[in-house]
Amino acid sequence: MKVSDRLAAIPMSGIRKMFDLAKPDSINLGLGEPDLEPPKEAIEGMNAAAVDGKNKYSPTAGIPELRDAIAERFSRYNPGLSGRNVIVTPSGSTALLEMTQAFVDPGDEVLVPSPGFVIYAPHASLAGGKPVEYRLTEGDFQPDIDYIQDRITEKTKMIVVNNPSNPTGGVLSEESRKALADIAHDKDVMIMSDEVYESFVYEGRHQSFLPYLDRAVVVGGFSKMMAVTGWRLGFAIANEECMDALVKMQYHVCASPGMPAMYGVLNAMPSIDPYLENARATFKKRRDLISKRINEIDGMSIIPPKGAFYAFPSFDLDMTSQELANELVKAGLICTPGSAFGTFGEGHLRFSYAASEEKIDKGMDILADTVRKIKGGRI
Ligand SMILES: Cc1ncc(COP(=O)(O)O)c(C=O)c1O
Repeated sequence: MKVSDRLAAIPMSGIRKMFDLAKPDSINLGLGEPDLEPPKEAIEGMNAAAVDGKNKYSPTAGIPELRDAIAERFSRYNPGLSGRNVIVTPSGSTALLEMTQAFVDPGDEVLVPSPGFVIYAPHASLAGGKPVEYRLTEGDFQPDIDYIQDRITEKTKMIVVNNPSNPTGGVLSEESRKALADIAHDKDVMIMSDEVYESFVYEGRHQSFLPYLDRAVVVGGFSKMMAVTGWRLGFAIANEECMDALVKMQYHVCASPGMPAMYGVLNAMPSIDPYLENARATFKKRRDLISKRINEIDGMSIIPPKGAFYAFPSFDLDMTSQELANELVKAGLICTPGSAFGTFGEGHLRFSYAASEEKIDKGMDILADTVRKIKGGRI
C-alpha cells in the first residue's frame, strides 16, 4: 500500500539508524532516556490505581487532580495557573504533535531550532506546514536572534523553542527569552516552548515561557522528570483559548491519556523535589566527567552543557559527523551524529550521559582511541 506523500517525504530518525548498526555489547550513549529508577510512589500509585479499577477512559484533558497538581507545581513560573490551563497528554511527543495539528495550516512556516530535537520539523511537515531551520549560536547554543528575524515572513506561524535543549544541553538565557518573546509579540507568531528537561538545569535558572501564555504554549513531560519513558505521559500548559483547541484535537487523536499512569505520577508529585535533587546531583557529576574526558582528547572540545543530559562536542577531523559516528559504532560506542539534528548540527556528536560513570568512562576510552587512530591516519 502506498504511504501518504507527507510521510514518505520524511526521513527516518538518525538516532534510530545508529542502533541498527550497533554490535550487541556496545556502550550505548545514544539514547535520551534516564537510567534511574522511577520514584517508588509513582509505581505504587499506578499499581494501586489499576487494582482499584481505574482502568477506563479518563476525561479528555486528563484527571482533574493531576491537572491541578501540574498547575500548582508550575505556578512558580506563573502564579495565575490553574488546572484549566493544563492538558495531560499521552507523552510530550504527542503534545508537540497535537500542537502543530491544532495550530499549523498548510503553507504556514514553523521555525525550528538547528541543531534541534528530531521531531519538530517532521511534525510541521505532517501538518502541511513548512519547517524553517533557525541557527543556534556555537558554544552556548542560544537562538541566533538576527538569523530568526531574517527568516520571519508573513507565513511564519510558530517558533519552536527547546529549553534545556536536546541535543545541545544549552539553557536559554534571560536575554534570549526576552528577545524571542519580543519577536513573537511584534510579528504576531506563537511560541511552542518544549521544556521537558525543565527539571535538569545545573547552572543558572530555568527561563520558562510560562509567564508568556498570551503567545506561548509550554510542553512538558514525565518521561524524563520521573524516569518513566515507557509510561508515555506528558502535558501542555496554555491559555484557555489554546486549551480548547488542544482538548478538541486530543479527543480525535487518542480520546484520553492512560488512567493508571496518571494516578502513578500524581502519587509521586508531593515527594518529587528530593527525587529530582538526587537525579540532578547524579547527572551533574556525569556531566563533569564526560566534559573533562572529551576535553582531554586532541581534536574534540566542549563547553560543559548547563542542562538536560546531553553532551554535544565539536570535532576538528576531516570527516562528517555520520562518518565519525559510524567509526565509533564499529569500535563499540553508540552515539548520534550531529547532522541527525539538522543542518547546523554538522561538526558535532551527541552523547547522552544518562548512563553510569563506568559506561561513560568506557565510552570515552573508545572515543579517545578512535580519534587518535583517525588523526594518525590509521583509520
Ligand atoms: C526535547 C524533547 N522533547 C520531547 C521529547 C519527548 O518526550 P516524551 O514523548 O517521552 O514525553 C523528548 C524525548 O527525547 C525530547 O528530547
